[in-house]
Amino acid sequence: MPIVLKIDLKRVLPISVLALSGLASSGLVLSPPHQTAHAQEKITLGVYSARHYNTDKELYREFERQNPGITIKVLEAKDKVLLKRLESEGDNSPADVLVLVDAARLVKASKLGLFRPSVSPTLQRLVPANLRDPQGKWYALTRRARVPIVNPDIVDPASIKSYADLANPALKGKLCLRNRKSPYNQSLVADQIILRGEAATAKWIRGMANNVSQEFFPKDTPQVQAVGKGKCGVAVVNTYYVGRMLAGRKGADNKALAEKVKVVFPKPTHVNVSGAGVTASSDNPQAALKLIEFLASPNAGKSYAAANLEYPVKGFGNNPILRSWGTFKAYGVSVEQLGAKNKQAQQLMKDNGWK
Ligand SMILES: [Fe+2]
Repeated sequence: MPIVLKIDLKRVLPISVLALSGLASSGLVLSPPHQTAHAQEKITLGVYSARHYNTDKELYREFERQNPGITIKVLEAKDKVLLKRLESEGDNSPADVLVLVDAARLVKASKLGLFRPSVSPTLQRLVPANLRDPQGKWYALTRRARVPIVNPDIVDPASIKSYADLANPALKGKLCLRNRKSPYNQSLVADQIILRGEAATAKWIRGMANNVSQEFFPKDTPQVQAVGKGKCGVAVVNTYYVGRMLAGRKGADNKALAEKVKVVFPKPTHVNVSGAGVTASSDNPQAALKLIEFLASPNAGKSYAAANLEYPVKGFGNNPILRSWGTFKAYGVSVEQLGAKNKQAQQLMKDNGWK
């Protein structure tokens, strides 16, 4: 059974420090690097994951069942925390696989040297080329669409066919946005820079900022609620936030609010990912790659995506809620390009009024 440890920002401590703290005696600390029971040649795979879904754990358990020599130990924390931790642990890190959400973070981890390149014909077949690192440092495992959501009583959904339409002055006072700290928004802007160029993107941001009349939101869920309540006519969110509410995971009131919201897929739709790679510090790179291959395999990949109402790397999955929205068309922009344009995107947002 996979062992799961959750940490928060305050617990970013190197293993050696943790070992001196109460956590060690409580048995909650990850084992020293790659502890193996030599007699059975057992391997312990450390997974550092920014995802936190029970179905993920079931998949890890299934992998252990298929590979009796491997035990998985999972450490769950926010992306930022995991990156800091891996950096501070260096070669001594017990992590073999790093799972992150958002293109910018995967590319950042790659730049920090936290991943090692790998060659896997299986992953090359399962994951489209634009959704993996060219050197095999990381591979997307799920896709997430970031799109406008509309309250049809306030804004005609048919009036929004592209992200550019969000800058239409007709939406003055009706548009709500999450703040620019969100890597999701940074990746959306990076996408627009690649698709439409810097000048057009700057103009677009200014137009949208002019349409916003209330505070920028800190998170996506409150945006869905505000659109449902009619406080905003249109906002931009990752679809799984609407999906979770529609599925009743946030209670009946939130379900009712999400039912008032219409999801709009612009052409082309901006797609972000969550993904995983073998860590630079891994002592078990073969087994680590095997786990990523398993997670990317069609059946496991569907469950990995379905856990959070995301889309698999290929196709749209079978979830009835996602199906009810129809499908979308992404375009060939690579996750790597999105990450590479992240700094430029942040600056452009700052300079043009995206708070
Ligand atoms: Fe999210």
